[in-house]
Amino acid sequence: MLRSTLLSGNGMYSPKGLAWAAVCLVTISTAGCGHRLTGRWEATGRTLDNGEQEKTILELKQSGNQLTGTMKSPGFSIDVKGTANGNHFELFGPRNPTRPFITGELTNGELHGTIGRREWIARPATAADDTPTNPYIQPPALHNVAYNGLAKTPPMGWNSWNLFAGRVDDQTVRSIADAMVTSGMRDAGYIYVNIDDTWEGVRDAQGNIQTNHKFPDMKALAAYVHSKGLKLGIYSGPGPRTCAGYPASYGHEEQDAKTFAAWGIDYLKYDWCSARMIYKDDQLQAVYQKMGDALQATGRPIIYSLCEYGLGDVQKWGANVGGNLWRTTDDIRDQWSSMIGNIEQQAPAAPYAGPGHWNDPDMLEIGNGHMSDDEYRTHMSLWALTAAPLLAGNDIRSMTAATREILLNKEVIAIDQDPLGKQASPQKNGDLETWIKPLAGGSVAVGVVNLGSAPAQATVNARDLNLKGGIGRARDLWTHKDARFANGAYSATVPAHGVLLLKVSAG
Ligand code: GLA
Repeated sequence: MLRSTLLSGNGMYSPKGLAWAAVCLVTISTAGCGHRLTGRWEATGRTLDNGEQEKTILELKQSGNQLTGTMKSPGFSIDVKGTANGNHFELFGPRNPTRPFITGELTNGELHGTIGRREWIARPATAADDTPTNPYIQPPALHNVAYNGLAKTPPMGWNSWNLFAGRVDDQTVRSIADAMVTSGMRDAGYIYVNIDDTWEGVRDAQGNIQTNHKFPDMKALAAYVHSKGLKLGIYSGPGPRTCAGYPASYGHEEQDAKTFAAWGIDYLKYDWCSARMIYKDDQLQAVYQKMGDALQATGRPIIYSLCEYGLGDVQKWGANVGGNLWRTTDDIRDQWSSMIGNIEQQAPAAPYAGPGHWNDPDMLEIGNGHMSDDEYRTHMSLWALTAAPLLAGNDIRSMTAATREILLNKEVIAIDQDPLGKQASPQKNGDLETWIKPLAGGSVAVGVVNLGSAPAQATVNARDLNLKGGIGRARDLWTHKDARFANGAYSATVPAHGVLLLKVSAG
């Protein structure tokens, strides 16, 4: 969430920083300068796709070998602390107190270090580094935003972030839209083609948000996507900046909603990010309601996707602000532990999912290459069992046969899209985790996930399925074969990190 904005910033000029740096330069070879890192430091980062330059202001106080301070940009502000040893320093953020996120040296009055693998240089801040702060805007009083009638089943489509991140552009979106049709994704129900962060330009003199050079004509792009029988989604947030450091909708909510509607946008993902610099968690609902109202006022049907990582028990009020789905977790990664962690973390929110309003454990990583096909089958099965939105996050233009077979498994998609809209919850028994989802018409879907690292025997007991009239037909949704219950049970061997997924109808 803070990711690339770590290098962007604003701040205030303090001659003190310069002074300390200068004083300490004189004593740099002696061990005695216990303040030489004290001051305001400005780091210039990348140039964004909209031409803006990323900047960070690091304000540090050194006392002996201890460092404390803040790191700020227009998009984020974090407290930092760390240690200095001679010219060497290490700084830790609030998220990981055991691993420094910057290590570096004081060299010739500059801080030279690395953030991750990126080189990072900070110089004493000057007056020119000062950027205006955002005035506080009081969020509206709470009321219920009427249901927009959309997302009766969990939204399905594609999103650019997981694979393309900042590399998404008009041409990519067009070719993905083409591939959604030719691959059969559209006809399987994947309708929304969603552009995530980094499409944003700067605002014009009237405050209208522009696209950057990667998206020369958003209205024409929407028309193209619509001509393919698909819908177009976009991304913004309630703060002044998006997570990638681009302009977001703070103070421009109605204006942006109108712009999105005029472009022909059908889906908005609205990401909290820098709003945390202005608002507290108990204001989340009012802040999200503001955009919910603005979208409704456009008169265009636009799916409203709240992205605030599950803060403030969003499942309890997401539907009241007009939300059709809401993230319940931090960002997914293409990694077994992240995928399983996300789906388990949202289990307590299960009672709040239903037609029109869904818990969102984040987008799919299927086909992105860092999990096995067994793990991706588990990923797909768990998202279906929990009625999660199915937003593919891979390159639809070049899917392997295995990825295609997983994403396009119509029997599994039907479990996700079941009109009853129930979200399964897990029952753990050693390495096996069983998820049971009641379906419309009295059937159930049952999944048994093998969390262990060796194959295991999974058994589904008929009595646990609570089917009226006992077992009718049972079908294995990955082998596409009927499964025969004997003596009230069905057993199968499940590979490590694999899944057994059955649909069982009543007798
Ligand atoms: C946050 C969201 C991600 C993605 C990025 C874009 O981290 O959780 O899904 O939208 O921002 O910057």
